[in-house]
Amino acid sequence: MKKYIHTFIILASSSLLISSCGAGGEDPGNEYAPNMYVSFAYEPMTQLADKPNTINPHGMNMRLGVKGTIARGQMDYASYDLPKTTEGYEAAASLKNPLEATPYNLAEGKRLYNINCTPCHGENGKADGTIVVDGKYPPPPSYDSDRIKTTPEGKMFYSIKYGKNLMGAYGTVLSPHQIWQVIHFVNTLKGAPVAAPAMAENATAQK
Ligand code: HEC
Repeated sequence: MKKYIHTFIILASSSLLISSCGAGGEDPGNEYAPNMYVSFAYEPMTQLADKPNTINPHGMNMRLGVKGTIARGQMDYASYDLPKTTEGYEAAASLKNPLEATPYNLAEGKRLYNINCTPCHGENGKADGTIVVDGKYPPPPSYDSDRIKTTPEGKMFYSIKYGKNLMGAYGTVLSPHQIWQVIHFVNTLKGAPVAAPAMAENATAQK
């Protein structure tokens, strides 16, 4: 009998041990080495007021770039820091397209134009995009109108970057490089329609 009591005590105490670790509902149970579950890593995009970073100055998790820092490959953003004002629009008139109208740039311009601009301006720039034809939107000026034909490229750049009246801004969608590519393509819509297939072929060859 004595030896059964021993076994009973061992069984009872071990079941108590196991059940006290058990998680349930909101209770995570007893955690062994909780640092493995809840890491002390600083979250880069989060700043918790009660957990200042002990390594960086001012308790910051993410250090800000030095003022005026330009990310790699983004140099052309810096050179078009036009003020978003009427004067900025006028001053933009002197900007010249830095890219050549190579088949590749034209094809890229067309691709970006088809994605972003056709709903209003239409495939051939005749202000017959789907939402205009549906009567849901007032027609923009046609690209072969005298008004657009005489608009300097720089002003087009400004309007695409910042938007104009009913037209939205594309400065956050298209890089300056891409805007100039689109402008090259828009220029081709001012006159005769473009021979698209030939351009696309050259584009892959040039890339
Ligand atoms: C939501 C419809 C809409 C979309 C999309 C749109 N536009 Fe426009 N666009 C307009 C309207 C409307 C105007 C006339 C603005 C005005 O002068 O009041 C305009 C004007 C312009 C002008 C003349 C700007 C000037 O300075 O007079 C250019 C160039 C132009 N758009 C190019 C583009 C390009 C390139 C895209 C695509 C990246 C685009 N638009 C996308 C509606 C649109």
